[in-house]
Amino acid sequence: MEVLVICLLLCVSGAYAYTDGRIRVFSDDFLFGAATSAYQVEGAWDSDGKGESIWDRFLHEHPKLIPDGRNGDVACDSYHNYERDVEMLRELGVDHYRFSISWPRILPGGFSNKINKKGLEYYDKLIDELLKYNIKPMITLYHFDLPQTLQDLGGWANPLSVQWFEEYAKVVFEQFAHKVPYWITINQPSFICVEGYGGKENAPGIGSSGIGDYMCIKNVMLAHAKVYRLYEMEYKEKFKGSVGISLSLNWADPFTNSTENVQAADLYRDFTIGLYMNPIWSKDGDFPRTVKDLILERSKAQGYRHSRLPVLNPDEITLLKGSADFLGVNHYTTFLVKATDQVYPNPSMDDDIGVELTYRPEWKTSQSKWLRSAPYGIYKLCLHLNKVYDYPTMIITEHGWSTKKLLKDNSRVKNMREFFKALLLGIEDGARVKGYTAWSLMDNVEWAAGTSERFGLYEVDFESTEKTRAPRVSALVYKRIIEKRFVEPDWKPDSLNIAITKSKANSKEL
Ligand code: NOJ
Repeated sequence: MEVLVICLLLCVSGAYAYTDGRIRVFSDDFLFGAATSAYQVEGAWDSDGKGESIWDRFLHEHPKLIPDGRNGDVACDSYHNYERDVEMLRELGVDHYRFSISWPRILPGGFSNKINKKGLEYYDKLIDELLKYNIKPMITLYHFDLPQTLQDLGGWANPLSVQWFEEYAKVVFEQFAHKVPYWITINQPSFICVEGYGGKENAPGIGSSGIGDYMCIKNVMLAHAKVYRLYEMEYKEKFKGSVGISLSLNWADPFTNSTENVQAADLYRDFTIGLYMNPIWSKDGDFPRTVKDLILERSKAQGYRHSRLPVLNPDEITLLKGSADFLGVNHYTTFLVKATDQVYPNPSMDDDIGVELTYRPEWKTSQSKWLRSAPYGIYKLCLHLNKVYDYPTMIITEHGWSTKKLLKDNSRVKNMREFFKALLLGIEDGARVKGYTAWSLMDNVEWAAGTSERFGLYEVDFESTEKTRAPRVSALVYKRIIEKRFVEPDWKPDSLNIAITKSKANSKEL
């Protein structure tokens, strides 16, 4: 009887039905959350003893790169507005808040000889405020903002960075492990390395594609694994937290079914998914064979004595294998991959992969050039991950959409609903997804794009001294989905008023 009533309710309210007419519902223990990162929201870039990060340095030195000129010096001023941020999370009714700790706010010089007490105090207050309302902290230890002092010593291209990261993580775990259930070691190794060390338009802007990016990938992956093992050895038994890594996993399909394009898409996925997934979750560990062989062969032909992709030795392979309690997936878009004769700079990662990327013209564009809406991608990604990897569970640690400054963000609402629809199908077909985290809780500094690309469920008025936040339509829609546990395609809020969800977010376990 109860089931029948629920079915009737769902049908009347117009929840998403699929071609087979069935309604998909998020389970009661599915976690919903929202995310930000330190550089993007905190501001207070040099307050209370914080050290300089590579993003502080980079955007101070390259102001012309930022379309609207707004860097992270002040951002959303969350350093002073964290209570309002938690209030917004209560309004949404989320289970968890994913935020990051700024390494140079805790260790201004990068090393643990000097710990900035004021920095620790800030995160302590934020964590306590979350816990007061039963919102679980999900802390990212590294979200792109390396202390500049460590960059001056080579940053992630220096193999000692593995040890530096472990030293920093230990300071953080000592302080907070007893109150934090979810940890993410590193956010998006691909962005850190491919954009930051391969490219020139993101910090630290080394521009060493095909060499520096590969050195960085090895070190970042090992740094992740070391910190996972540190938690496992010293904190896991006592505090029972989960430690994962967030990977940027977009989907890639061949442009056509021609053999060349199918092979090109396979190779592209080996470079963008396999390089990071294989060492942790493939049967043999290590980087994908295809990638290793290809780079070795090309390196030799180019006159290098060693592969430009550093080798993982057997101990490192063992360290990495299984080094995460959950897979954090940051998923935004889908690309179509074409085999190409185009000539890229040599050496470079583009030259190694040797493909061209494109989109279907009908995929709607966002405010960000790289981001188009192709929501079926998450479904295909789920199937692929299930088929190829033995991951324990998955949490979507980021998904979102950019607009201009506007409160009626219908395109974000559409993108979110379609994403959920495809995700629910993926779950039904076996993807072990335990949670979803919207990027982002509020508009923030989108790295070198400044605030010209807005990802927030809440709009931030960057002109105001208070950095006033106001809910968008998407915030109300998301709140409703969290409450109902299913997606209603036509539901609209009557107004943009949002109230704190009375019942506290309940405590669910992974
Ligand atoms: C991924 C990154 O983790 C985050 O910092 C960024 O703002 C979003 N993608 C949107 O580009």
